[in-house]
Amino acid sequence: MVTKKSVEFDPYIERKAFDETKEGVKGLVDAKITEVPRIFHVPQGSLTDKKPSVSDLEIPIIDFASVHVDKASREAVVEKVKHAAEKWGFFQVINHGIPLNVLKEIEDGSRRFHEEDSEVKKRYFSRDFNKNKFVYNSNFDLYSASPSVNWRDAFSCYMAPDPPPPEDLPVACRDAMIEYTKHVMSLGDLLFELLSEALGLKSETMKNMDCLKSLLMICNYYPPCPQPDLTMGISQHSDNSFLTILLQDNIGGLQILHQDSWVDVSPIPGALVINMGDFLQLITNDKFVSANHRVPANREGPRVSIASFFSSSALPSSTVYGPMKELVSEENPPKYRDITIKEYTEGYFVKGLGGTSYLSNIRI
Ligand code: OGA
Ligand code: NI
Repeated sequence: MVTKKSVEFDPYIERKAFDETKEGVKGLVDAKITEVPRIFHVPQGSLTDKKPSVSDLEIPIIDFASVHVDKASREAVVEKVKHAAEKWGFFQVINHGIPLNVLKEIEDGSRRFHEEDSEVKKRYFSRDFNKNKFVYNSNFDLYSASPSVNWRDAFSCYMAPDPPPPEDLPVACRDAMIEYTKHVMSLGDLLFELLSEALGLKSETMKNMDCLKSLLMICNYYPPCPQPDLTMGISQHSDNSFLTILLQDNIGGLQILHQDSWVDVSPIPGALVINMGDFLQLITNDKFVSANHRVPANREGPRVSIASFFSSSALPSSTVYGPMKELVSEENPPKYRDITIKEYTEGYFVKGLGGTSYLSNIRI
C-alpha cells in the first residue's frame, strides 16, 4: 500500500526548492535547522552496507624529498608510487614542494568565500560552465539520478588551460586560486612523469596524452550536520579525472574503500592526498585503480577540502581514450572500449554520485 506520506514526497520538487534558495547547505545551517530534510536522507542501510571503517590500515605515505636527487632515489620513489597506484589507488605525499603558506591561503580563501554574505555568493550561483567559469552551487548532481542530496556546498572553476580573467574570480579567493594553481600544475607534471615511469614507459607519455592539460578546481565546504547518521558529506564515488590532488583540512572524514572496508585517510598537516581517477584506470587497462571514496557527514565542522582534478571534461575535444597500446597484448586484451572525455562525463553526470562506478558502463 502506498502511504499518503510517500505520495506527497516529490524529491524533484523538494530538490528544486532547495536549489532555488541559492544558499546551499550552509543556508540551512545558518537558519539553525535541527533536522536534516528528507532529500538528504541516504537510502536505508546504505551507511552500513560495508564493513565498518578500520583504523589499523593506512594508505601509503610517500616522501618526494629525494625525487630530484639522483636516479636511484627517483626509482625508489617510482616503486612506491607504483605500489600505491596499483594496490590502493590513493596515497598521501609529503615534501611535495608546495609551500605551506600556499596551502594555508587556498584553504583560508575557500573558507572565506563560503562564509561570505549569501548575497555575494548568489551572484556566482550557477550550474552552467558554458555561461560561467566560476560556478558556486550545492550538489552538482542535484538533478541527476543520485540517490540522495549531499551535506556539502562547493565552488568550481577550470583553472587550466584557459583560466578566467582574474576579475571574474571572487576577491575572497582570487589570489589564492591563482597561486595554488601554479603549484598544482607543477606537482601534476611530476606526478604524471612518475606514474608513466611506474608503468615502464617514457616520463612524458601521459603528458603527451594531454593528461596534464586541463585542471578543474573544486572547493568543497561541509557544514556541521545536526543528524550525521542520516546523510553523507559526499556519497561513495570514484573521480571523473585522470588524477586528483586533494588538500583536506585537519578535521578529517575522507574514507576510501579498500578490500571491502572503509579506511580513513587521516589528515597530515602539510600533506596532499593523491588519487587515481577513472581515466587512469581506463588508459592503464585496470593496472592502476580508481578507488571508491566518500566523506560521511559530521557534527564537527565546517570542513573544507580543495580537490584539483586533471580532466578536460569541459573542452570540446574529439580525442578518444582507451587502454594504452603499450599495456595490452593478446594475453591481456583491452578491458574498455574507446571513449571521449565528453561522452564519459555526460554519462557520469546523468548517473550522479553514489552507487557503482560509471567505468562499468564502458567495460567490454
Ligand atoms: C571529491 C572528493 C573528498 C573530500 O571532491 O571528489 O572526493 O575529502 N572529495 O572532500
Ligand atoms: Ni572524489
